[in-house]
Amino acid sequence: MPNLRTVIQETHRTLEASGIPDARLEAEVMVMDVMRMPRQAIFAEQESQVSPQQEEQLAAIVTRRLTREPLAYILNYREFYGVNLLVNTDVLIPRPETETMVEHALFMALMGMESRELVIADVGTGTGAIAVNLAIHLPAARIYASDAYDATLDVAAYNVRMHNVADRVTLLKGDLLEPLPEPVDVIVANLPYLPTDRIPTLQPEIQWEPVAALDGGTDGLDHIRRLLSQAATAHGVEGGARLKPHGVILLEMDPEQFSEARSLASAAFPDAEITVEPDLAGMDRVLSVSLAAGDC
Ligand SMILES: C[S@@+](CC[C@H](N)C(=O)[O-])C[C@H]1O[C@@H](n2cnc3c(N)ncnc32)[C@H](O)[C@@H]1O
Repeated sequence: MPNLRTVIQETHRTLEASGIPDARLEAEVMVMDVMRMPRQAIFAEQESQVSPQQEEQLAAIVTRRLTREPLAYILNYREFYGVNLLVNTDVLIPRPETETMVEHALFMALMGMESRELVIADVGTGTGAIAVNLAIHLPAARIYASDAYDATLDVAAYNVRMHNVADRVTLLKGDLLEPLPEPVDVIVANLPYLPTDRIPTLQPEIQWEPVAALDGGTDGLDHIRRLLSQAATAHGVEGGARLKPHGVILLEMDPEQFSEARSLASAAFPDAEITVEPDLAGMDRVLSVSLAAGDC
């Protein structure tokens, strides 16, 4: 029977030879899954033997991966901000750059906002990645997590239950801000922001993901434009406001979309403070729109 070291090396070579990105990391994750071992153990126990049954399971995973099916869909989970989330083809696979949104929302909530019992809306929640993490790290917050699709909300519901935050995360179905039953302190939204024409040119793995989670229209800003307009239209209208007077909107997007998005945001909220936050790779990633108290 081969040992772990050999199996990881061979898997790495097979993936790399087929042009799979991050081949070494993926080989390790596959072996961790088949061996049911945490990361430290696969390095500490490199002489451990891999049984024929485990080799067979690994071969089945590799075969699927060579068709460019994303590893997260094969294993049915993805780690995001330190928690494992169920994923399937009804949801976008959470991306590392979206952790910037979580970081920034936590920063605003813990340092910048006056209210302790924050009400937050995660619009376009997908797996619930953002909502679940905010609920874990902000034990006093109440969170609405909305999406337009039942199948997506089923996955979010599973993740919310799995991480024991169902008492503070309410799932809502509907278009952007429409289902919100009360004004919130913070809106976080990683909405689809790829320009329609760009999607077929992107890597094969992306073609497995739901188009409704990717497609942001001609310039990628359709959903962001509509969300800002929904937030501004009802803002200050008795019974219709979606954002409290001191509220904040955090929007994830592509670096090249900021100039247009900034204009849209300042047209919608002329007195707001608008800033841009970089992701871990140093790329502009999150547009932050903080409403001045006088804007309400
Ligand atoms: C880019 S994905 C982000 C998912 C998740 N928030 C994340 O960061 O991993 C966008 C999500 O917005 C949802 N969505 C698309 N159009 C929507 C709409 N009009 N109203 C609400 N959600 C929408 C999609 O179903 C998808 O789950």
